[in-house]
Amino acid sequence: MNNQKYLIAANWKQNGDSKSLIKLINDFIKSYKKIKPRCEILILPPSIYLNAISNRLSHHKIPRKKISLGSQNISSFDNGAYTGELSVDMTKDYNCTYALIGHSERRHVFQEDEKTIAKKMQLSLASNMNTILCVGETIAEYNKKLTKKVILRQLKSALIKSSVLLKSDHSKVIIAYEPVWAIGTGKTASLDNISDVHSYIRNVLNKILGIKTNSIKILYGGSVNNLNASSILSLSNVNGALVGGASLNSKKFIDICSSI
Ligand code: PGA
Repeated sequence: MNNQKYLIAANWKQNGDSKSLIKLINDFIKSYKKIKPRCEILILPPSIYLNAISNRLSHHKIPRKKISLGSQNISSFDNGAYTGELSVDMTKDYNCTYALIGHSERRHVFQEDEKTIAKKMQLSLASNMNTILCVGETIAEYNKKLTKKVILRQLKSALIKSSVLLKSDHSKVIIAYEPVWAIGTGKTASLDNISDVHSYIRNVLNKILGIKTNSIKILYGGSVNNLNASSILSLSNVNGALVGGASLNSKKFIDICSSI
């Protein structure tokens, strides 16, 4: 894993407007040369701004291996009569190479169930997208010491439909561990906790896929900022970060990317 790139993803969620997000991407572009070669940045803007952000990256000739684009969510169906949805193939038209699936806000605010998440994983992987699956426990589950049980269930249920495909090629799957109680709260999981859960995820992946999965990136997310990023990113089995709040501030986000 040592010569592998770290992936630092900016999840802008449903924030900003065309003016503020264009300014944000322009600020990222201005400072991106400072970023270490071992870092790939992924921008996950609100879908309606994907085209505008993609145009800024093309205009400045930013290599897509340096700053790539992804969607925060995809439909669990192929194209058809599904009002309000965006299929994985449509996101490709905006140069998306990543899809984020099963974020805790999708699971808990939009009641996305595990069957739907498994379908989205299957569609995204079949479409050759880099696919980030988010997993993580709620505070109640954490307090009852159910973290590993919950994560095992979430990983198994999300990957089951894709397991045949993944056994022959797992290069497109990425896992993000995001304790729900750490998202947007300023409370990060302790370093011991992150280490323990990430190595557990690695072992579960090895078992589910029946192979060594060291090349699958496992990101940490939940109140990552410019002050705690360096210690989190130096843990083994932490191969990047999924950043929400701090990614809306260009200086903080670039500092996170430079702290690898
Ligand atoms: P946060 O969000 O960094 O604001 O905690 C992380 C996420 O939801 O991906």
